[in-house]
Amino acid sequence: MIVRSITSEVLSVGSIDWDRPMFDELVPLPDGTTYNSYLVKGAAKTALIDTVHPDKTGDLLDSLRRAGVRSLDYVVSNHAEQDHSGSIPAVLDLFPDAQVVTNSRCKGLLGDALGLPSEKILEVGDGDTLPLGGKTLRFLLMPWVHWPDTMVTYLEEDRILFSCDFMGSHLATSELFVTDEAKVREAAKRYYAEIMMPFRGMVQKHLERLRGLDIGIIAPSHGPIYPRPGFILDAYAEWVSDQVKPEVVIPYVSMYESTARMVTYLAAQLVEHGFGVRTFNLIRADLGEVAAALVDASTIVLASPTVLGGPHPGIVGGTFLINALKPKAKFVSFVGSYGWGGTAVEQLKKMLAGLKAEFLPPVLVKGAPKENDYKLLDSLVAALCLRHEMGTENAGADVRKGSAATAGT
Ligand code: FEO
Repeated sequence: MIVRSITSEVLSVGSIDWDRPMFDELVPLPDGTTYNSYLVKGAAKTALIDTVHPDKTGDLLDSLRRAGVRSLDYVVSNHAEQDHSGSIPAVLDLFPDAQVVTNSRCKGLLGDALGLPSEKILEVGDGDTLPLGGKTLRFLLMPWVHWPDTMVTYLEEDRILFSCDFMGSHLATSELFVTDEAKVREAAKRYYAEIMMPFRGMVQKHLERLRGLDIGIIAPSHGPIYPRPGFILDAYAEWVSDQVKPEVVIPYVSMYESTARMVTYLAAQLVEHGFGVRTFNLIRADLGEVAAALVDASTIVLASPTVLGGPHPGIVGGTFLINALKPKAKFVSFVGSYGWGGTAVEQLKKMLAGLKAEFLPPVLVKGAPKENDYKLLDSLVAALCLRHEMGTENAGADVRKGSAATAGT
C-alpha cells in the first residue's frame, strides 16, 4: 500500500510486485513489475483509473483507505486484462455505487472474465469525455495496443495521459517518476518487444495519433511515470519504424558442439564485417532478452542440429515465439549440423510464415564443420554484406553472388 501524489488531485495508488518471476506464465520478469492505478479527484466526482492484479487487491484497497477515499464514482477500465481489471469486483464491493467506465469491447471482456453485470458499466466511445468537476477525462480507443479492447485516458486539465500497457515497462522500482532514462528505455524496449511488437502497425498508427495531443506526463499501467513524454514517444517511434539496424540475432541449440562451432565462427565473421551480433542458447536463454534483441535486428539466423529428422525441440519453441512476435527483420537464414538427413530447414521455414523476410540459403553440414563448411558460412556473411551494402573484402568469390549453399546432401 503506497500512496503518492502526482499532482495534488491525482494520486498513484497501485502496487509494486517485486517478486513476480513470470508474466502470463510466458514472459520472464527479471525486474518484477508494477500494476499502476491512479486516483483522480474532481470537485464533484472521483475516478479510479485501472486497478491491479488480483493478487494485489489488498494493496489497492489499503491504498484507497489511506488516501481517504470515502466515495468513488467511477472505475475507468482501460483494458480488460486482469493485471489491470482483476481488482474491479473488490473495488465495487467497497464502493457499490461506483460505475465502471469502459468501451464496448472491454465491456464484453469484463463480463466474460469477471462476470461484471452490464448495468454496472458506463460505455464510452472514442473521444468521449467524462466531467469530474474541474477535471475532464477523455477516452481514446487504441485497439491492439495490447488487446482489441485497449483504450487510453487523457486528463485534459493536467495533460496527463494514462496510457495503460502502452509505453509501459516491467520494472519494479520505488521511483514514481523516471529518473534514469537509459535504464527505463531498456525495460520499456523489452516490454515493447514482448507485448507490442506483434501489433507494430497498429502501435505505429496510434503513436501518430498521440503526437497530436498536448501531453505533459505519461502515466502507464506498468513501470515508472514519464515526466518527459518525448523520451518514450521518440523511443517508440524508432522501434515501430520500418528501419532496421545491421544486427544479427542467432538463436541456437547445439548437442555435440558442431552447430555451436558454426555459430561461433559465423558470429565472429559477422562482427569482423561490422554487424552487431547477439547469440542466444535457447536451452537457457531469457526469451525476453531474445525478443528485445529482435526489435531492431535486420537479420535472424536460426541454428540447430537435426534431431529425429527435424529441428531440435529447443529451437522449435523459440521459433514459434519469434514468428508470433513478428519482428521486422528483413533477412532470415538457417545453419546447423545433421547426421544422415532430415527436414529441419523446411520445418523451421514453415514455422516462420508470419515474417516478411527474404530467406537466404541455409548452411547445413554433415557432422562437424570442416574447411569447406566454414567457406559456406563466409558465403552467408558475404550475402548479408551485399544486402546491407557493407564491405565484403574477406568473403569468397562464389559468395559475392549471394549464393550461400549447403554442404553434404
Ligand atoms: Fe498489462 Fe495487457 O495487460
